[in-house]
Amino acid sequence: MSMKSTIKAASDKVAEVFSTKPEKAGDMDILDKLHMEHDEVQELLEKIVESRKTAERKTLLAKIRKALIPHTKAEESVVYDAIIAVKNAKNKIDGAEGYVEHELADRTLARLSKIRNLTSPEFTATAKVLKELIEHHVKEEERNIWADVREKFDAKARIAMNRRFEAAKKKVRVA
Ligand SMILES: [Fe+2]
Ligand SMILES: [Fe+2]
Repeated sequence: MSMKSTIKAASDKVAEVFSTKPEKAGDMDILDKLHMEHDEVQELLEKIVESRKTAERKTLLAKIRKALIPHTKAEESVVYDAIIAVKNAKNKIDGAEGYVEHELADRTLARLSKIRNLTSPEFTATAKVLKELIEHHVKEEERNIWADVREKFDAKARIAMNRRFEAAKKKVRVA
């Protein structure tokens, strides 16, 4: 290595160590990421309720499963468990409520996935119930849980939470 490139490599290393921006490209606040995913799944749910075509509903159902299942599981381990761990009664109740609502959404989604006739009134009704459950859940989550997260975790911690959220989502298998 030439003297020039040795100096360049050393100064790059110094710049890296003293960098004021430790975040990597694509890093974002966990709450921004959750909001994006909430919008995405709510849009899919609106479409599946409105649709009357079997093939379209099938595609939408697969997309909803892929979006919703990893989101809720990773949210529980990374976000809910973090606020439940804070010694504060409100946080514990908010976290527990989130778990209960996820369980209801999970059961409704499983029920929807078992309905063979995708144009039946039963399918439309179950999709509608799931949409309403998620709407209610998202509204409360963004109000209550997010207030708890903002109170206990600063901007840097919320970026680190997003990295853990992404890693946790990758571990969830969707059948
Ligand atoms: Fe969520
Ligand atoms: Fe949630």
